[in-house]
Amino acid sequence: MSRILVTGGAGFIGSHTVDALINAGHDVIVIDNLSSGKKTHIHQSAHFYQMDIRDPALASIFKKHSPEFVYHFAAQINVRHSVSDSFNDANINILGSLNVLENARLSGVKKIIFSSTGGVMYGEARAIPTQETHPSYPTSPYAIAKRTMENYLQFYHNNYHLPFVAFRYANVYGPRQDNKGEAGVIAIFIEAITRGKIPTIYGDGSQTRDFIFIQDVVKANLSALESSKTSEAIAVESSRSKRSKGVFLQAPLIGIYNVSTAQETSIRELFHIIQRVLSFPHEAKYGDLPSGEVRRSALDFQKLYSENQWSPDFSLEQGIVKTCEWWKQIA
Ligand SMILES: NC(=O)c1ccc[n+]([C@@H]2O[C@H](COP(=O)([O-])OP(=O)(O)OC[C@H]3O[C@@H](n4cnc5c(N)ncnc54)[C@H](O)[C@@H]3O)[C@@H](O)[C@H]2O)c1
Repeated sequence: MSRILVTGGAGFIGSHTVDALINAGHDVIVIDNLSSGKKTHIHQSAHFYQMDIRDPALASIFKKHSPEFVYHFAAQINVRHSVSDSFNDANINILGSLNVLENARLSGVKKIIFSSTGGVMYGEARAIPTQETHPSYPTSPYAIAKRTMENYLQFYHNNYHLPFVAFRYANVYGPRQDNKGEAGVIAIFIEAITRGKIPTIYGDGSQTRDFIFIQDVVKANLSALESSKTSEAIAVESSRSKRSKGVFLQAPLIGIYNVSTAQETSIRELFHIIQRVLSFPHEAKYGDLPSGEVRRSALDFQKLYSENQWSPDFSLEQGIVKTCEWWKQIA
């Protein structure tokens, strides 16, 4: 059992990860300012502090609980907002993240796990599914901030030996997702249909995305704490490593990893799956495609598979069935 601090633990990905960590027996501390997260999503056994990640008082929480691991999910997640108010985006997503990172360093955290983006990191990629080694082309201040934090994590690792994992999530979907944000298209379509409205597809709907179900993301998040490598492989690597053996043995996954399905699904196909699952009799409406939208996106997950045997369990249809069940429950 470990003490684990989770920022953004009242949000979509954060709250599901907190549930899984607590179910696995960990002691969890949640920091969230509830700007988009909901108190009702926070597991009752978590210690909760309503606080902004930019608050200097964050240091007192680290001091009080001495977390061994930190998951950093709290963020301004709206890409369009990051364009219209880049200062606010950088203030939260860079300076706020740096406050979390610096506190993690000062309190001797064993590892920090950061939620980066894969969906808007590679621009119009040269190869699909896209590997982590593909050059990054962050096309919005939101993506620039995520890339900047990956660079800071690498700097902290090199200079202060603070191990990190940056997960570049594809388009995550599932229960509790708000119908706003970076990848809310599934939530937007389901919510519209369950309220009897006709969803709008922007452009001709042939643009593709890589949709990953929340439980697969949670499985990846938890894998950052453990290793499924053989003890022999770990012994060889740790003898090469300059880091302390204890830290390395506990958590060898380090660096940047895509978390994805490697499957491209067009928005039109996506609508048809949701239409079928909800037995919706109408076709979608079509609207103008906003400028700057990436045409195709799907991410390769072989790196996480080869290092930690992670692969997604849920097909898009299975995940959509589960998500629709949740929307019906709360409707
Ligand atoms: N949902 C996706 O498809 C996706 C894809 C790639 C990356 N991400 C990243 O994953 C993380 C979680 O995303 P999500 O979809 O769960 O979003 P979310 O909005 O549901 O969760 C973010 C949480 O952070 C909190 N928060 C925001 N600003 C804060 C601040 N200044 N101080 C403290 N708390 C603050 C919010 O109240 C919310 O609970 C984010 O970092 C996001 O950028 C998400």
